[in-house]
Amino acid sequence: MDKIKKIAPNSVNISKLKLTDFRNHSFTSIITDKKFIALVGKNGSGKTNIIEAISMFASGKGLRSAQLSEQSNINGNGGWSIFMEVKSSNGVTKLGTGIGSPQIIDGKARQCRIDGKFLKSPRQFSECIGIIWLTPQMDGLFIGQRTDRRKFFDKLVHLIEPGHEENIKSYERLIMQRNKVLMDADNKISWLDNLEKQISKLSVNIIISRDIAINQLNKIMDAEVKNNLFPSAKIIMREELGNINKRSSMIEIEAELQQLFYQSRVRDRESNRTSVGPHRTDFTLYYNKNNMYAENCSTGEQKNLLVSLILAEARVYQEINNGVSPVLLLDEITAHMDNDRVSNLFEQIGEIGSQTWLTGTSENLFDYIWDKTDIFNINKGKLSHRTP
Ligand SMILES: Nc1ncnc2c1ncn2[C@@H]1O[C@H](COP(=O)(O)OP(=O)(O)O)[C@@H](O)[C@H]1O
Ligand SMILES: [Mg+2]
Repeated sequence: MDKIKKIAPNSVNISKLKLTDFRNHSFTSIITDKKFIALVGKNGSGKTNIIEAISMFASGKGLRSAQLSEQSNINGNGGWSIFMEVKSSNGVTKLGTGIGSPQIIDGKARQCRIDGKFLKSPRQFSECIGIIWLTPQMDGLFIGQRTDRRKFFDKLVHLIEPGHEENIKSYERLIMQRNKVLMDADNKISWLDNLEKQISKLSVNIIISRDIAINQLNKIMDAEVKNNLFPSAKIIMREELGNINKRSSMIEIEAELQQLFYQSRVRDRESNRTSVGPHRTDFTLYYNKNNMYAENCSTGEQKNLLVSLILAEARVYQEINNGVSPVLLLDEITAHMDNDRVSNLFEQIGEIGSQTWLTGTSENLFDYIWDKTDIFNINKGKLSHRTP
């Protein structure tokens, strides 16, 4: 059964991937010109490790949020590296990241390069490639920690509004300073005023970026995308921003926020935290058909909602990047999904045109896309290409 027709013209595809001493892969090399790459093997064989390696080319610490030292092959010499070639209409770009053993011991950051040039941060990889993932660890996202949810949604926002994660980082640093100054016995009022002014400025940027990204995602999730079996939904933000009026001008919002932080000083000093602001925002999805928030939906429904969200994200990304689709990493996505949905998922991805890396324990999970798929069997960190 083959329903996939349209392939986006401007896709960005990983054509080569090399892992050296990354987790249980002493050396793994993949060369592909396919849209779908299926990594097949038993539990613990090293499938997720491969897509974790790709996720190191997104901002942050990758899909496991791991420490650099955890990622070094325990039988290696302490460091690790990942290299890939990305093919797009601009030709081939070489991306690399990694760290040596002495640097890990010294607590240094990993190195990141594009075509040999060093980057300040992995965030800059997003100029070459957009990466979106869905893993089984995210199954509990809607019922788990608010912080995890916020991080996840902020990542989605960042792919649509590129300065967002930088703003969040700076904002969080300032909030920590504010908490410290508040606790200081002879806290300097002028210092606090100044900090809250900066915090308010960044807050406005963060709030606006989130609003822009979420409006675009909601527009797509609300529209009936043709033949989409994944549910129509809406992202809901639960913000703790007092009564500020988000329709005001940026300068007015900034002033209102500054007032809000000022008013919460006494309370915040007592609780040793900042009780208001965009770092308190929570996100959820509202499932339109069931009139229900995601946290109250069944496990399967929650997964399908997440798939809706990821597909919408890919579509928005494509819209704002001249038709270039992001690379998708879908770990164990077909587990517990009915056949109709599996084939529909592949059909939707085919329309978007994203190169997609999939994992699974059996080859026949990928029957629907066998002719577009490179299958690699993995056993204890060793790969073999399955020739048809
Ligand atoms: N730093 C490391 N060095 C060597 N092996 C590792 C390292 N980190 C994890 N592993 C091993 O990798 C395997 C898990 O790989 P993973 O990719 O999660 O498997 P799966 O194929 O089930 O997705 C486990 O056997 C684990 O012990
Ligand atoms: Mg796995």
